[in-house]
Amino acid sequence: MGLTEWFEFQVPGRVVCSEHSVDSIGTELDKIGANNVLIITDKGVEKAGLVELVENGLESGSAKLSGIFNEVPPNSEIKVVQRCYEMVQSVGADSLVSIGGGSSIDTAKATAILMCEGGNLLDHQSAVYAPSGTLPPHIAVPTTAGTGSESTFASVIADEEQKLKLIFQGPALAPTVALLDPVMTKTLPPHLTASTGMDALSHCIESIHSEMHEPISDGLALHAIRLISNYLPKATKNGDDMEARTYMLIAANMGGIAFANAYVGIVHAMAHAAGGRYGVPHGVANAILLPYGVEYNVKFYPELVLSEYRLVAEALGIDVQGDNDEKASEKLIEYLKNLTLDLGLPAKLSEVGVPQDGLEDVANDAMIDGSMFNNPGEPELEDVLDILKKAY
Ligand SMILES: [Fe+2]
Repeated sequence: MGLTEWFEFQVPGRVVCSEHSVDSIGTELDKIGANNVLIITDKGVEKAGLVELVENGLESGSAKLSGIFNEVPPNSEIKVVQRCYEMVQSVGADSLVSIGGGSSIDTAKATAILMCEGGNLLDHQSAVYAPSGTLPPHIAVPTTAGTGSESTFASVIADEEQKLKLIFQGPALAPTVALLDPVMTKTLPPHLTASTGMDALSHCIESIHSEMHEPISDGLALHAIRLISNYLPKATKNGDDMEARTYMLIAANMGGIAFANAYVGIVHAMAHAAGGRYGVPHGVANAILLPYGVEYNVKFYPELVLSEYRLVAEALGIDVQGDNDEKASEKLIEYLKNLTLDLGLPAKLSEVGVPQDGLEDVANDAMIDGSMFNNPGEPELEDVLDILKKAY
């Protein structure tokens, strides 16, 4: 197994996990010095009654609810963050609780930047965000088991004018507490449970084949893969299976911490591009592209990935005893294709609104996506186009 010559592993904030842990969110807010809390969420989460659960949980502590910002869209934007910050100022909030998928949590992270720095978000973009002071207390409550954003160091915010996705990145952006409560994911419908779970699996596998992988992130990712293999089909089939919901939240969190350090690769580069161009949901794009990204890496960089893919296959419970590494990775690719189908997800880009004559644009966008740089080797444009054609 290859090892980067030097590595640094950043640990995010505290992780608290139990069924009904939101009931005691007030106690957690007291521990981190929150007084006036702004909840950041979206209307769907609010309508599902999940914000109310958190509001009730606030009564376990002394922090007051200052307001609810419920305008987060599926992909958050600069102007949304600015509006959220205006609300922080108008209600006098000193702390944040984000409830939702990656978009709400990322909106809160970016709002936290403005609470520390003031002004316009665009003024605070740099390779690594170094705060000029202390960021406000922030508890992230995920309502999907996928992005791991509750424990990552990045916030992805679209710049609607430049038509770009901006990434704000830095260890200070990790929420103070990640509150994992399976009650908050219980009502997630099967197709979203499946696609967000495949995003989590993609984080794990991509952090393992990343050029930045190291033993700590590998360990987190491999155990998360074991959990996903066991619990994603169960959580998809029966949303009320609280054991499956809990372990999927934990797995997504572990995958998030793994890729926050080791990063992701070619699969996410293509998924970001397919999402940006044609609105393919992130988890669906990853589910479709993951086996083809693995196949590409096996073909071009076997010396860098084969032994890792064997470990991934074993973690997924695939019987590879007696197989050489090539055979083990063939079985892995087949398994990933079947898993996508078994979960009821689309298996080809042609099924999700990507036009055939749009593949070249997707390939071009993927080539300049930041995730591409952490994939093994140096994928060429023609290779990426070839992968997209195979996945079409
Ligand atoms: Fe992802």
